[in-house]
Amino acid sequence: MDQRVVPRHTPVRARVRTIGPVGMDAQVGPARPYDVAAVRAHFPALDRGTVHFDGPAGTQVPAACVAAVAEHLERWNSNSTQGAPFRDTPAAARTNALIERIHAAAADFVGASDPAECVVGANMTTLAFAMTRRIGRALRPGDELLLSPLDHDANIAPWLLLAEERSLRVRWLPPSLPRCTLDASSVVETIGPRTRVVSLGLASNAVGTLVDGQAVAAIAAAAHASGAIVWVDAVHAAAHVPLDVRALDVDVLLWSAYKVYGPHLGLCWVRRGILDVLPAQNVRWPAPAGPHRLETGTPAYELFAGLEATVGYLRWLGRTFGEPAGGLPPERGEIVAALEAIRRYEADLASRLLARLAAIPGCRVLGLADPADVGRRCPTVALTIEGRTPAAVADECCRRGFAVWSGEFASFELMRRLGLQGSGVVRVGIAHYNTAAEVDALAETLADVAAAAPDG
Ligand SMILES: Cc1ncc(COP(=O)(O)O)c(C=O)c1O
Repeated sequence: MDQRVVPRHTPVRARVRTIGPVGMDAQVGPARPYDVAAVRAHFPALDRGTVHFDGPAGTQVPAACVAAVAEHLERWNSNSTQGAPFRDTPAAARTNALIERIHAAAADFVGASDPAECVVGANMTTLAFAMTRRIGRALRPGDELLLSPLDHDANIAPWLLLAEERSLRVRWLPPSLPRCTLDASSVVETIGPRTRVVSLGLASNAVGTLVDGQAVAAIAAAAHASGAIVWVDAVHAAAHVPLDVRALDVDVLLWSAYKVYGPHLGLCWVRRGILDVLPAQNVRWPAPAGPHRLETGTPAYELFAGLEATVGYLRWLGRTFGEPAGGLPPERGEIVAALEAIRRYEADLASRLLARLAAIPGCRVLGLADPADVGRRCPTVALTIEGRTPAAVADECCRRGFAVWSGEFASFELMRRLGLQGSGVVRVGIAHYNTAAEVDALAETLADVAAAAPDG
């Protein structure tokens, strides 16, 4: 890739303790035992009669998020006047300050030192299409993109379109099937002299497998040595493991607030040296700086307020149930502590669910099915039941009050490789507000469904 887009790579040493495989191995003890009732008290939607196992499609939000959105619209509704030559109204001043705070919160969430590296957008898909087009301006015919077939199509389709437009070559990273994992050495072997982008997801939104943080860092080292950038879709991982762009040493990382107890917003961290040289593709505002160059149109500022409140909730969770993360400022440390507490709690629920599913005749878990493998996966479990279509199983679960989805979840490449295109799987997405009793009740429902007459 053009050196203007990929400046000579200087590895940045993680300033924090190494969080290993994206923090998943943290063995620190909690400050106070995790209290799921106290967690659930923050989520008004959990009292409405539905058991939510649909977090991978979007989690529920804490009351503070709802209140902040409403308050912003009621009291502070104004467009931004950043850089305008006239006096701000109180609402405009509030919006301007909120914009800055939300970029800082995004940086804290992914462990970036510079809020100006964070671009806020409508959702991950929109950001991915926009950012790939900007990066694509520096690519030449014959340059190579390495894509992961484990990914959501939002992390594939934008690259395929770009490849078609600019005559780029697409190659697929080799996953290990049927485990649905990606290991560093096979990815590193795939990187060639014409590789300019290595794109992968940190976790599969369909089957829940994670690419561990050390593998990502090893892939990044090899990619950088060949002059390629590493682009990571962290949308699914973001709700389940702490993210640390410096430890991962990647160049671009995208996530969505609404998968992490926030409102419908997408976010994208871009390494500063790259962000500064990306073409703006924006209206010709007089000299907007940093990430604002890449943020098009007027965003939903009320959702910024909601996201800020969600981050406040996560920080409460980290302070209350997490182990203080040594050497980190509280804005970052409490988020890391929260995600580590979430990870420990969810791992217990995931192994409980996997053990229950293993006892159901005809139930097949896709990917990592062994409870002993919870450290290598998110608590998102994909399954099929012999003789029943995934749609019929999900339908019956929904009828009994469990929000459980079926389908391909836009993981088309993976489903095709698993021979499940079209029908897909049943997906159970555990979140940090679910309980062991909910997991048991769902397992009983699935056992009933498995025992019932097959679909005609
Ligand atoms: C792993 C993954 N990547 C990307 C996306 C697309 O995100 P968004 O809905 O913010 O466009 C999703 C949505 O489900 C996802 O799960």
